[in-house]
Amino acid sequence: MTDVEKLCETAIRMREYAYVPYSGFRVGAALLCADGSVYTGCNIENASYTPTNCAERTAFFKAVSEGKRAFTAIAIAGGPSGKIVDYCAPCGVCRQVMREFCEDTFQIILARTPSDYQIYTLKQMLPAAFGPENLQED
Ligand code: THU
Repeated sequence: MTDVEKLCETAIRMREYAYVPYSGFRVGAALLCADGSVYTGCNIENASYTPTNCAERTAFFKAVSEGKRAFTAIAIAGGPSGKIVDYCAPCGVCRQVMREFCEDTFQIILARTPSDYQIYTLKQMLPAAFGPENLQED
């Protein structure tokens, strides 16, 4: 199994932990750090809806809160319970969180199975973005 396939497999496995009593839409994510470590995430919903956290942000916030700042790739797998039919693209909020910590070349891997995936760069998924450098004065 390739490294990308392993990352996809981990993302698919993380769907098991999704807390989704409202949508039933299970998403898992596996975030590869530049040092080779992997942080996982699932979506966590809330009765008040807006506090819901996507799988991708769960993975990012776990990693950042443990001191990680450099990231290479994230695998994402999502869909209604059962077999995954479609590729699950990250929402706009998650793309913006990626933009905070990642280079243009960061790889976003959308997995249906460990060996069936599409790869995009962050630049492709969030062109003409607003980022940390826009707040610098000079
Ligand atoms: N969701 C994610 O976790 N990641 C995505 O990429 C898309 C959407 C979650 C949020 C919510 O719990 C459910 O999927 C339906 O929108």
